[in-house]
Amino acid sequence: MSDAVNRRQLVAGLAAGLGLPGLRGARADAPIVIKFSHVVAPDTPKGKGALRFKALVEARTHGRVRVEVYPDSQLYQDKEEVEALQLGSVQMLAPSLSKFAPLGVREFEVFDLPFLFKDQAAYRALTEGRLGRELLDRLETTGVKGLAYWDNGFTMMSANRPLRHVADFRGLKMRIQSSKVLDAQMRALGAVPQVLAFGELYQALQTGVVDGTETTPSNIYTQRLYEVQKFITASNHGHLGYAVIVNKKFWEGLPTELRLVLEAALKESTGYANALAASDNAAAFERIKASRRVGLIELAPAEVNEWKRALMPVHREMEERVGRATIDAAYQAAGFIKPV
Ligand code: LMR
Repeated sequence: MSDAVNRRQLVAGLAAGLGLPGLRGARADAPIVIKFSHVVAPDTPKGKGALRFKALVEARTHGRVRVEVYPDSQLYQDKEEVEALQLGSVQMLAPSLSKFAPLGVREFEVFDLPFLFKDQAAYRALTEGRLGRELLDRLETTGVKGLAYWDNGFTMMSANRPLRHVADFRGLKMRIQSSKVLDAQMRALGAVPQVLAFGELYQALQTGVVDGTETTPSNIYTQRLYEVQKFITASNHGHLGYAVIVNKKFWEGLPTELRLVLEAALKESTGYANALAASDNAAAFERIKASRRVGLIELAPAEVNEWKRALMPVHREMEERVGRATIDAAYQAAGFIKPV
């Protein structure tokens, strides 16, 4: 071995040992690590999407990139994970769209308007259209880059008393995500909203810190919320979607050829997760039913209309916060028609 080679090896070894940023490129064997943190179970549309991304990336980069997936709030709770991403402690997240307003992009709360989406196709039309792109672009000033939208599904209400009529909500403490639209929604129903981290939900329901909540069957099943709630109303009044986001500086600093591989892997994982959303939720609903641990309430059309009458004023009430133009663009993209 020549002296030159020996010297290069020594410099590389030193750089590795000292972790000197300027010499990091000398560690030819060190993989780039992407920490992907999320708050739900691995066996959910988001959990499976994250694992598919990991598998595709690691196979296609032959180990040059390692994706470490941390589910179930193992690393961070809801609020902390976004801060950790901005600081670069994690590189990738997929928070629910209800959690972006604290970053200063309040327009994301448009996704929380009750009964906005008539079906999943309406959600896809919004996210795949111009408004969807514009909202992701607005994140850039916060040090975050929005790469894709993922889907979960329609949300249901649960509580320890049957929720069939609007009056049934009176005085109930309902856990919500940190969205002012969800806050207004619960108040319009007569409930008392309480923001709590997703990872604290099971215990909060079990100990009576809150009386109820809203989420998808997939989350109710995998977090075993049906064990600590007596009734679930298949209301489908809201929709739970996600944005896959990365630390902008990290992402843009990746070698171009690697970033292209990652982008292609994410596109495939997005298709995979989104294709699973409806079937995963239907299967979870059947499992909850089969458990016989919880009363399931289906709403009659007249009861759905009663909920809509109580909740439509929230759309107008939130115009100032979310922006009239954003709401109008969302209506158009989703094909929303205000009920009369
Ligand atoms: C919630 O906090 O209820 C959801 O955002 C959890 C999730 O990511 O599905």
